[in-house]
Amino acid sequence: GNYIVVPKGLVNVIVDETKISGVDPKGEATIYRGYTIEDIGEHASFYEAAHLILFGRLPCDEELKEIRSKIDKYRGQIPEKLFDAMKHVPVTHPMFYGIYGTALLGQYYAPEWRFDEDFLYDHALRLAAQLPVIFTTGWNLAHHGTFLRPDPSRDHAWDVLRMIIMREPSDIEARAFESTLVLYMDHGFNASTFTTRVIGSTLSDLYSAVAGGIAALKGPLHGGANEKAMEMFLDAMKKAEEKGVPLYDYIEEYIKEKLARKEKIMGFGHRIYKLHDPRTDVAAKFVAKLKDGEFWMKVLKKAEEVMWREKKIPANIDLYTAVLYYQLGIPIPMYTPIFAMGRVVGWSAHYIEQVLNNKLIRPTEKYVGPTGLKYQPIEERC
Ligand code: CMC
Repeated sequence: GNYIVVPKGLVNVIVDETKISGVDPKGEATIYRGYTIEDIGEHASFYEAAHLILFGRLPCDEELKEIRSKIDKYRGQIPEKLFDAMKHVPVTHPMFYGIYGTALLGQYYAPEWRFDEDFLYDHALRLAAQLPVIFTTGWNLAHHGTFLRPDPSRDHAWDVLRMIIMREPSDIEARAFESTLVLYMDHGFNASTFTTRVIGSTLSDLYSAVAGGIAALKGPLHGGANEKAMEMFLDAMKKAEEKGVPLYDYIEEYIKEKLARKEKIMGFGHRIYKLHDPRTDVAAKFVAKLKDGEFWMKVLKKAEEVMWREKKIPANIDLYTAVLYYQLGIPIPMYTPIFAMGRVVGWSAHYIEQVLNNKLIRPTEKYVGPTGLKYQPIEERC
């Protein structure tokens, strides 16, 4: 047949068209439905950005009221049995809660799946509203033996942050957190979004597709990097304290030593952005405004300067959100779940775009293993 051999890792391969978002390699024009990601990340609320990503435009008054009331209502409507199920699971990395919690939601809501638009968008909003509750319930039950229930009368981002940190956040804390959900909301055909589209292309349901997206996001080369970046800063901080120097004066030596050992520095590098990740600019503005903002900005700038000088590799969003979540007092294993709480909107938008104009995604392979072997009974085998 007429086969096309593509590079390993699908590097630089365009696999389909999308109207949802586009990632600009120069880092200057990464687009959410026509707007730059910086513009939306800095100004839009979670509801506005979700409306934009899902429905293709920023909402007007009535539309905003509607999306807000649906997301808030659904956040408060988790099936009670799901809370019960979460009480009986082992204590693991919270991304697992997302994977099976999402699958459980699918079993409750949609054992029979349909492909009409109203049905699809309604489930997209349910998932955006309820995925954070799954993560926060699982985590808090495992670590505190109790959990905070959602408060549908409050703003989504504020309420989700309250459930994570188990205290009422200030306005700036809630807005900083919300902005990261918006910055994480979509990003072209990244690994987890592509996974979601592949699952969608088999005409499986949205819950299964998103469970797959969460599984892909969990890896340290993708969403898991924000946790690894903070673990690195804490390790460096301990060593800086032992030496009696501030972290921003020590981070250069720390990074160079890691590079000399050929270790990757988490929170740096990106498949598409080789010069600059524009999401870091927006996250940086909020880091500067939160607890110890001046200190952390010095550390981040120094780390970026060293990585650019030594490797010509720019920081990615995970470096900045790692610090921002630390400033908010969020436990490190919840960092990647938060990435999922934002990206779930993008996964749903891509799932819907895929299934409404579907072609099964099924590449082919080049078999390079042995041939001609014959089955032998076990006693003749070894
Ligand atoms: N630290 C040190 N060296 C690096 C790093 C890093 N963070 N990232 C890339 N390199 C080196 C890499 O070792 C390779 O060097 P060489 O050519 O000598 O083997 C070169 O740069 C090219 O890197 P690559 O891994 O082949 O590039 P890629 O496009 O396949 O990978 C990446 C992109 C994100 C997997 C990689 O940069 C990485 O592992 N970064 C650390 C993990 C991370 O922060 N991930 C979050 C990505 S942004 C948020 C998200 O979408 O999830």
